[in-house]
Amino acid sequence: MVQIEYGNAHIRLADKVYEPAEDSFLLADAAVSHARDGMRILEVGTGTGFVSAVLKANANVEVVATDISPYAARCARSNGIEVIRTDMFRGLRSGPIFDLIIFNPPYLPTSDEEKVPGWLNYAFDGGIDGRAAVECFVDEAGEYLVRTGMILLLVSSLTGIEYVKTKMGSAGFDVNIVGRTRCFYEELVVLLGNRRA
Ligand SMILES: C[S@@+](CC[C@H](N)C(=O)[O-])C[C@H]1O[C@@H](n2cnc3c(N)ncnc32)[C@H](O)[C@@H]1O
Repeated sequence: MVQIEYGNAHIRLADKVYEPAEDSFLLADAAVSHARDGMRILEVGTGTGFVSAVLKANANVEVVATDISPYAARCARSNGIEVIRTDMFRGLRSGPIFDLIIFNPPYLPTSDEEKVPGWLNYAFDGGIDGRAAVECFVDEAGEYLVRTGMILLLVSSLTGIEYVKTKMGSAGFDVNIVGRTRCFYEELVVLLGNRRA
């Protein structure tokens, strides 16, 4: 069994589940720095459970996660994360429950020929413009947030950072960049959305 260690957390990896990478590390660091005692946090698309596990190891918070992939749900549970296997927010009671919702989405622009076989495709395939999961998340997250709630969303320059910022603004969030790093062919940023009162 392959395991990685990051920020006081030990995370088991699994076949057919996204292996934590630069995007995961950037989001985990931003999530820890925005976590406050007693917060109720939802991670959408938890994969191995990496970001949630780092949060739990470094902050006094309650975390619940979702993932559409059965392999990811099983892996995250083996890492001690409470997971609901579902599409995005389906299967969650709607209402203002969470203080913070985080997502490292599939963000790569993907044509039919570029799709990966099986469940792992959900880790990468952002639809033809890379924004399918991002747009769905931004449209729906507010419904599950308390009045002063926040979202943290990982976005790539390949997805269109300005486009997503504008989309978040239209959905009722004040937006700031709270993390960024350059990888080979893209820039990754973490967008913080504070729900407008
Ligand atoms: C880029 S991976 C990130 C995994 C993990 N959060 C990390 O940062 O290492 C995206 C994850 O989102 C999940 N996912 C994609 N679409 C989803 C959806 N509609 N509902 C729930 N999970 C989804 C994938 O199965 C995958 O585990």
